[in-house]
Amino acid sequence: MKNFISVHDVTDIDSLVKTALQYKASPFTDKSLGVHKRLGCLFLNPSMRTRLSTQIAAQNLGMEAIVFNVSGEGWSLEFEEEAIMSGTTVEHVKDAAPVFGKYFDILAIRTFPSLKNREDDYSELYIKQFIRYAGIPVVSLESATLHPLQSLTDIITITEVFKEERKPKIVLSWAPHVKPLPQCVANSFSQWVNAWGRADFVITHPEDYELSEEFTKGATITHHQEEALQGADFVYVKNWSTYHDYGKLYESDPKWMLTNKKLELTNQARVMHCLPVRRNVELSDEILDGPASIVTQQAANRVWAAQAVLSAILKSK
Ligand code: CP
Repeated sequence: MKNFISVHDVTDIDSLVKTALQYKASPFTDKSLGVHKRLGCLFLNPSMRTRLSTQIAAQNLGMEAIVFNVSGEGWSLEFEEEAIMSGTTVEHVKDAAPVFGKYFDILAIRTFPSLKNREDDYSELYIKQFIRYAGIPVVSLESATLHPLQSLTDIITITEVFKEERKPKIVLSWAPHVKPLPQCVANSFSQWVNAWGRADFVITHPEDYELSEEFTKGATITHHQEEALQGADFVYVKNWSTYHDYGKLYESDPKWMLTNKKLELTNQARVMHCLPVRRNVELSDEILDGPASIVTQQAANRVWAAQAVLSAILKSK
């Protein structure tokens, strides 16, 4: 594996999931793989799980992980080619990224969308500029449109929990929120579940919250949440803002919040969320504190997803 930006960087999802679960069973099997190697973790946005799980994963492989909060502590970066830097940006990525390339063996980066201009966000300029100029492998810790380490984690968790021979029914259900959020997690989850091909996949959301077909093609899409929930084995709850009239939150209708009553429609579904979650807005206390929730198991699995990806990159270097 050269970079890890989306599911397209993975040749065999099941094999990566198997490696991750092997690391979960035996975290230090490859404890010498990353000795004398350094991982640079650049954060242009806040994080808790991604930051900590990636550091732990690197350490399990014997790698040193150095975290740099670019947005809070670094120079303000410019990403546009031929920019006249007379505004607020201080350093061009063309100058900064090659330096990171000399300091580190792998670069892991979290960026975020503006949610103002769809074309800009979906061009993935920030992460592409790092790939272009760093000269070392780049791992996405969430980009403007995708969150591949989260999605790999989600498939790991579903594989770990679901033991039946048949395909599970997985429902991605839109949830209310107080502000517009990126489409990254929903895009990425859709992209990975479709590529995995081992589930009956249904996406449910209010009208006007269609995601890009680039990621959802292959899924069944319905505006009727209760119909979607019938017989579900997993319900993945997530808010996202509008894609077409870009970056808006038209409504926050509480009727879209998952409750125990709605869960009765499912096949004793397990409930997933990437966290952080707004309690009693996106998901009710009764679900998060009840037996259906696997959100902590899911977040814990972030370590093994990151370890499998770093290991694949180190092995192919
Ligand atoms: N799920 C996730 O990416 O969490 P953080 O934003 O805390 O890293």
